[in-house]
Amino acid sequence: MAEYTLKVRRFQPEDGEGPYWEEFNVELDPSLSVLDGLLQAKDRDDGSLSVRCSCRAAICGSCGMKINGQSGLGCKTQIGEAQELAEKKASVSPSANGETPTIVVEPMGNMPVIKDLITDMESTHWTKIRRVTPWLLPHGTPPEREYVVEPESMIDITQSMACIQCGACVSSCLSMEADPDFIGPAALAKAYRFVGDPRDAETKERLHDLAEDPHGIYDCTHCFSCIDACPKGVAPMDQIMRLRRKAGEEGIADPNNGDNHVNAFVKMIEKKGTNDEAYLLQESFAPGIKGKLKPTKGAIKGLLGSLPVAIRGIRTGKMRSLPKLIPGIHPKLPGGAQDEVKAIYKHAEEHREEFNIYIKGEEGE
Ligand code: SF4
Ligand code: SF4
Ligand code: FES
Repeated sequence: MAEYTLKVRRFQPEDGEGPYWEEFNVELDPSLSVLDGLLQAKDRDDGSLSVRCSCRAAICGSCGMKINGQSGLGCKTQIGEAQELAEKKASVSPSANGETPTIVVEPMGNMPVIKDLITDMESTHWTKIRRVTPWLLPHGTPPEREYVVEPESMIDITQSMACIQCGACVSSCLSMEADPDFIGPAALAKAYRFVGDPRDAETKERLHDLAEDPHGIYDCTHCFSCIDACPKGVAPMDQIMRLRRKAGEEGIADPNNGDNHVNAFVKMIEKKGTNDEAYLLQESFAPGIKGKLKPTKGAIKGLLGSLPVAIRGIRTGKMRSLPKLIPGIHPKLPGGAQDEVKAIYKHAEEHREEFNIYIKGEEGE
């Protein structure tokens, strides 16, 4: 048994007052959870302390909350580990009055708070989940019994199927903070669950819908926060990247030119092994013609639009030297190093399956 202090952000709307902090001292085995600590405080100190929970086993997805600033599940976070993290954080930035670090517990972010740690999942999370048509849309006459597919064809979506709809990824999403209309990590992971399903017949329509919505797949800034938050290894950002890749394969234009940028980057590293900034910029907007600009309207507009970025690069020194300003004269990797890069590309080409925690690697790898 050990003693812990939980510093809880509270909000009791019936009081008519704003949010406030309250500390609760609890006594628990370090292997028990932060949720267990909250329930002990509710039982012993204040019955009005409100928290949503059910399974207490990381299955139902009810107990999403922020612990020491990190979104996750209260029932999956051991209180001993939470204390260690609080102490680690305090050692980096100690409090002015030298107080013992406490475990800070807050309601999830990006959602209205109903009471204490209970957030309104309907107005953000569930509305967005419904937005992506989260059911199968098969065409033709349904089979008499179930649809039969090759088990291998379902492996790709098993990761997104592991979602328990806890909302931790939504809570941690930085893009959603800036754009509350962003469809968001949980709903987009759910969208991939159907886009990747071989039984669904509206893949193309789904991709157009998600790519053309200004708050859709290109609204993600690739910050990895949802991957850190997800307690079930769904890696929502990876599902969004899969949606983007599929949209690119369908020839759907990326309004941010990201698809061309990725292709240009891949091509450049394969050729040179290092980042040729000027070549990257040119290839991102005018792909396909080496050393020259392709005179399409889009390319010229894109290049003009990126001028402020280039000027900033020159100002900050990122593109100060001559080889960094002229496409194509940036040096290649020395010696045999470039051959090693090529060998990596060859290996990647021959092993097209991407890393997925539900797919086993080849023996010996
Ligand atoms: S990677 Fe994208 S979806 Fe995930 S938290 Fe960051 S911005 Fe949001
Ligand atoms: S993707 Fe992960 S974090 Fe997001 S709702 Fe599903 S289980 Fe929770
Ligand atoms: S109580 Fe069910 S996931 Fe935490």
